[in-house]
Amino acid sequence: MKKMKMFGLLLASVMLMLTVACGNSSKDKESTDDKAPATATETKTETKTDDTAAASDKKIVLGFSQVGAESGWRTANTKSVQDSAKEAGFDLKFSDAQQKQENQIKAIRSFIQQKVDVIAFSPVVESGWDTVLKEAKDAGIPVILTDRAVDSTDTTLYQTFIGSDFVEEGRSAGKWLVDTYKDAKEPVNIVELEGTTGSAPANDRKAGFDEVIAQNPNLKVIASQTGDFTRAKGKEVMQSFLKAHKDIDVLYAHNDDMALGAIQAIEAAGLVPGKDIVIISVDGVHDGFVAASEGKINFIVECNPLLGPQLMQAVRDVYEGKEVPKRIVTKEGVFTSEDAKRELPNRQY
Ligand code: AHR
Repeated sequence: MKKMKMFGLLLASVMLMLTVACGNSSKDKESTDDKAPATATETKTETKTDDTAAASDKKIVLGFSQVGAESGWRTANTKSVQDSAKEAGFDLKFSDAQQKQENQIKAIRSFIQQKVDVIAFSPVVESGWDTVLKEAKDAGIPVILTDRAVDSTDTTLYQTFIGSDFVEEGRSAGKWLVDTYKDAKEPVNIVELEGTTGSAPANDRKAGFDEVIAQNPNLKVIASQTGDFTRAKGKEVMQSFLKAHKDIDVLYAHNDDMALGAIQAIEAAGLVPGKDIVIISVDGVHDGFVAASEGKINFIVECNPLLGPQLMQAVRDVYEGKEVPKRIVTKEGVFTSEDAKRELPNRQY
């Protein structure tokens, strides 16, 4: 009986141990099972996090072909593009075309070869872009026009055009002149310094100006020639205008730099800029504002070069496949000498 009791006790202990052991093992399994999905989820999460990191770490590569460095406006525009690209965290491949279309075409082809994400450029002239734009389109690389337009009829060759309304700028210059000479009984002789031949701002600023001054038959353009948007050329052409015409009343310069060069020629000829010859120009760069605040330029139509932030936003949108408006127009003002004096300390470029 005692032996039976002992055996019973032993059996009970063995069964208890077995139960505990089984229980532990199933608990271990449960926790392993618990852990398995948790680990899988973590792995998944980790992968997702890695993917997200990889996606956000991937720098958008932007190929940008700039016209050149012909003017104060262009210098400010280049700085705006470079600073904004840096701020946006883009990898900017910048190319200076030195005012030559062939250099821009080469740069665009090189961007295509390098498989950049987006191409942006400011076309030196309006015509002759269809072939290279088609090459970019065939390579699946979106193109953004900035500052200047192209005359391609196929508007699918680019995503958007960001920049000023140059025709409107010409009109603003013309309106001020029409108003200033509204009581004139005599002919008013105007000389015009045009921008780079074939460029959008030269074509459009001329067209807008001519359209408005046609209201007053006394306003006559007696000479018009390109000064290529540079100070040196502006001076040279103004010298030849002064030699050929003794009776110049007004100079209309398509940019400040040419007006500033012309001012040197006018002063060298013993005349007072802003008084003997009334001067209108376009841009509103710092040096132009200084000349206006000194009364040497009478009226400035602003053309804003700080296009970088808008451009980077459009690049990001296009890269992410978002819709962008086909035309983004820059807001601008006009300034008399008095306005320039007041505004000079606030100018950013
Ligand atoms: O395209 C903008 C024009 O180009 C600016 O008015 C001129 O200064 C620049 O060179």
